[in-house]
Amino acid sequence: MSVRAAVAEDAAALSVLHGASFREGWTRDDFTTWLGRAEAICVVAEEAGEAAAFGLALASGSDAELLTIATAPGLRGKGLGRKIMQGLHAEARARGLERWVLEVARNNLPALGLYKSEGFVEIGVRKAYYPGDTGRIDALVMERPVATAGGQGRA
Ligand SMILES: CC(C)(COP(=O)(O)OP(=O)(O)OC[C@H]1O[C@@H](n2cnc3c(N)ncnc32)[C@H](O)[C@@H]1OP(=O)(O)O)[C@@H](O)C(=O)NCCC(=O)NCCS
Repeated sequence: MSVRAAVAEDAAALSVLHGASFREGWTRDDFTTWLGRAEAICVVAEEAGEAAAFGLALASGSDAELLTIATAPGLRGKGLGRKIMQGLHAEARARGLERWVLEVARNNLPALGLYKSEGFVEIGVRKAYYPGDTGRIDALVMERPVATAGGQGRA
């Protein structure tokens, strides 16, 4: 397994990974646009030469905002998500960013587990923020410093 910065040629593979994890998948063109933005921080993990997980963040002022992260459904629970977080974190540090921020659905236990183990703490709630199968779901807003080691993913 290897983790590297995503490049424009990854757009199609990232679209497939995103679509396998989210109800409203982003298109190849969406990713081409994201990858062309100087503020974008995007890393991809490959298994046997195939994109297996990725994360996309945006530098905004001194913040790094996590926009999305996904591991291929059949490859979850093997440490790829954590590797992606570490790759994003290394790039945020390299850019001199100060704080990570993200939003996560209150009922997304795998993502919450990953974020908490990486040192994120809850700083707010956006009520009924996401659509869900049985009604709208709160988003938890979480943060962690970029410079401070946190969780198992000390960087
Ligand atoms: C969230 C996601 C990216 C995690 O990816 P992953 O490759 O399975 O994560 P890892 O194997 O690196 O696990 C890292 C940590 O996450 C947590 N975690 C992973 N799966 C979990 C689960 N099913 N339940 C609770 N915690 C879990 C654990 O803390 C785990 O650490 P551990 O293995 O030492 O216990 C993956 O579940 C996914 O793609 N989900 C769908 C997309 C999504 O919801 N993205 C987040 C949107 S906010």
